[in-house]
Order: sequence, then structure tokens, then C-alpha cells
Amino acid sequence: MRLAAGLRRSGMSRVFLIDTDTASDDAVALLMALGSEDVHVAGITTVAGNVSLEQGTRNALYTVEFCGADVPVYPGAAKPLTRAHQDATWFHGEDGLGDHGFRPQHRIAKSKHAVDAIIETIHANPGLTLVTLGPLTNIALVLQREPGIVDKIGRTVVMGGNPCCEGNVTPAAEFNIWVDPEAAHIVLHSGLRIELIGWQLCRGEAVVGPAEIERVLGWNTPLARFTIESNSRARQALKIQTGEDGICLPDPVAMAVALDPSIGTTWSDHYVDVETRSELTRGMTVVDRLNVASDERNRETWSSLLDRPPNARVCWEIDVPRWKELLFSFLR
Ligand code: RIB
Ligand code: CA
Repeated sequence: MRLAAGLRRSGMSRVFLIDTDTASDDAVALLMALGSEDVHVAGITTVAGNVSLEQGTRNALYTVEFCGADVPVYPGAAKPLTRAHQDATWFHGEDGLGDHGFRPQHRIAKSKHAVDAIIETIHANPGLTLVTLGPLTNIALVLQREPGIVDKIGRTVVMGGNPCCEGNVTPAAEFNIWVDPEAAHIVLHSGLRIELIGWQLCRGEAVVGPAEIERVLGWNTPLARFTIESNSRARQALKIQTGEDGICLPDPVAMAVALDPSIGTTWSDHYVDVETRSELTRGMTVVDRLNVASDERNRETWSSLLDRPPNARVCWEIDVPRWKELLFSFLR
């Protein structure tokens, strides 16, 4: 068990609730939270996304078991609110963990539905940090059932979106938002205190490159081997997708910011909305970066958008060396 690097030993335990479509990068994010001494993971809820709900649930159970943790896993939505489920097995492997045969030996999922578990966990732990690593279907269902619950949630760290940049599943959209844009729309308009961690933050220098992969493997710990092996397919897929050589880890970046907010170095508050009607721009996170939607001078031009105050805190940059050091601190 480790203390998230850069955090004082406060002695206080923070409560995390993690919603995930557990595939290879989700699994690494989970092991970071499960390995943080000052974090109590009250529950893990699963949602259809990268892989089927059943497979994602198995992957979450495997990861909890592999980390020697005792955290309940609650299965949630098997498909988006209104659309058919479309997965990302091409990127993560058929089983989502690089097809190496990682499967739980003992742990089984809870029979309670994720939506019920999320609501009960929030009421039992007011002010908790909600971390979402997959499509927002479960969270939207919670908000439809109990809109006022937003007042009992502290931070909501969302891995999702592509603020003012290219998408990874279409030119316009990032996968988590694209899979269920209607759910993302509900979440963005719910009043949750959202910290938006876009896919662009795990690209470029933030990619775990070939030399770093060899360094991690050299530590020869179970978590180091699992991190690299489970992301073997993702490494091949990244080469195809962007030409970059290495492992791109969006969920671990989001988890790093959840564990240590100071890893996010450039933030600003903006009105963010999601396209749900156009096929071309389905799932696009439209960020009002210049805040034109709240500028009186634009009333004529943007009357339909005016009076749209900021509804999300958008992260534009992270401290890459500190992000990587935090990740590596769990693998040595
Ligand atoms: O676009 C990246 C996101 O979609 C990550 O959360 C990945 O695990 C997939 O869910
Ligand atoms: Ca994910």
C-alpha cells in the first residue's frame, strides 16, 4: 500500500467511488486507487463501454483480487441509455486486458445494481469523490432517479471528452462520451462539480514510452508486469491510431488527478455541452473556451446560448513528470 506521491500523510482517509468500463487502462487506474494508503475505495461500479458489462465486471473483479483488496464490485448498465452498445475491443483486446487470460479466481460481483449501490454509497459517505472512467450511463441513471444527490457528492472527476481537440473514436468525439452522449448530457447539466480530464492529456509526452516500459518491466513486480502485459494490445492499437509508440493511459491520468489535484496544472471553468443529434459530431464535447455564452456583448449572436454559466472545470495541462512518478510509485 502506498501514499499517493506528493500528498502529506494526513492520516485522513478519503472516500472514492469509481465507475468503470474496466479494460486495460481502467485496470491501472483501479490499482492506483486500491494502492493508495489515504484512500478508501467504498465501491467499484461497472458499465458497458470498452467491453461488455459482463467482461468489464470480470476485469474489475480480477483487478481487485490481483491487488489483494476487499472492495465490492456492482454491475450496472449493459448498454447506453438509448443507443446500442459499441465496444473498443479492437483497442484493448477481446477480453479488454490484452487477451492474456487474466480472470478472477474467487471474487464474484454483488447482486445489487450499480445505480442502487452508487446512491447508497453516496448517502453513506457524503462529500465522497466520484471518479468516472467509462461511459456515463450509470451516473445518468442515478441523477434521473435522485437529481438532488449532486449536493452530497464532493468532486466528480470525469475521464472523458476532447476539449477543443481531436477525438479518438471519431474526428469529433472521445470514446466515453461518444458511447453514450445522452448520458453525458445529463451529467454535464446536473450541477455536479465536474473536473473534466480529456483524452488529449494522455498523449505526447504523457505516453509511457518504450524506454519507460522496459524500466517498469525491470522492476519485475506483479503490478509492473500486469500493467504492461494488460496494455500490450493497447500499445499496438495506439501505433495504428496515432502513430505513437507506447502505452496511452487516460484513466490513470484521471485517477492521478483525483489522487493529487495539483497534477493538473492548468484549469479553467467553462460551459461544456455534448452533441447528441448529429452523427458527424455525435459525442463532441463543445467547450466554450472564450466564454462567449456568458458575454452580454454576444446577446444578438449567441442568444440561444447566453446565460449558460460554466458547468465544468476543464483541465488543459498536467505535470507529466509528476503524473508518471505517481503511476510508477505503485508499480515498484
Ligand atoms: O477514450 C478513452 C477512454 O475510453 C478510457 O476511459 C478508455 O478506458 C475508454 O473507456
Ligand atoms: Ca475506461
